[in-house]
Amino acid sequence: QSCNPNRLWCKKDVLASFPKRDLYAHKGSNGKGMVIGGQAMMPGSILLSARAALRSGAGLLTVATVRENVPIVASQCVEATYHLLEGFSGGFQSRDMEAFQQMDAIAFGMGIGRDKATMLLELLESTTCPVLIDADGLYQWKDLLGSQVKRDAPTVITPHFGEMAMLTDRSVAELKQHPFSISRQFAQQHQVYVVLKGKNTVITAPDGDQIVSDQGNAGLAKGGTGDVLSGILLTMLMQHQDVLIALANGCYLHGTSAEYLVEEKHSEIDLLATDVIEGLSQVFRTLS
Ligand code: APR
Ligand code: MG
Repeated sequence: QSCNPNRLWCKKDVLASFPKRDLYAHKGSNGKGMVIGGQAMMPGSILLSARAALRSGAGLLTVATVRENVPIVASQCVEATYHLLEGFSGGFQSRDMEAFQQMDAIAFGMGIGRDKATMLLELLESTTCPVLIDADGLYQWKDLLGSQVKRDAPTVITPHFGEMAMLTDRSVAELKQHPFSISRQFAQQHQVYVVLKGKNTVITAPDGDQIVSDQGNAGLAKGGTGDVLSGILLTMLMQHQDVLIALANGCYLHGTSAEYLVEEKHSEIDLLATDVIEGLSQVFRTLS
């Protein structure tokens, strides 16, 4: 299914494109994913991404983080498996690379800090599955913009307007005026999928094709909701061959969860990122 330029993504589009669950599914057929992130004593963002990925229907999820975070994250996310990383400023080890090869999609960068590092380059060059880069990972990715990265598989970046301003060396005001043209130029130039997050989210493919997600509300304007989106998008990427559609469906789920919650249970004031994860259940029930 192809998309018209600047298409607004609605429930009917999600219904038409959402992967059907196989009656004989096993955990392998629902996709294997990994979230890589969480500096020492920064377990929150990676925990939110992991729980969101699982609530979105991931078959198997591995959390790759540092030793200090494992007990904290594992105590609140018992369904995941854990892969120990030494840190985020050195390089990966061969056992890390072997783990990456098992994955259908990987999300990188939540809570890793903004130190310069070579890890992202290694990750991009050693994997053949989609890699999503968010949050602090975007600062590392900017360092790679000048260099030739050897990669054939899809790369997805998920900046908010501030992060997009940092990546493009433009002002937030300029971006707000021209979100479509700046996203398209950037996606084509760097051959990445761009999810430019805001009140409306503009999703652009490397060929310039664009979709808009207008779901969600101001209850989402809180720390942590972006980490939840990364987890949802990770699972969508694991399960859908068409990256642009996977991303659009993920943004729909995230925004619609917030809408249901504000209509029925919470308000825009008290809504938390954790609630958005729990609210996914109701969104999925309307899709089946
Ligand atoms: N209406 C609809 N959706 C919204 C709105 C709104 N008014 N405000 C935010 N959202 C959605 C965005 O579209 C996006 O999906 O909420 C999500 C917010 O994602 P991020 O901005 O990445 O938020 P997050 O990373 O969780 O927290 C902000 O970013 O600049 C850093 O360090 C800073 O900790 C801070 C973090
Ligand atoms: Mg963020």
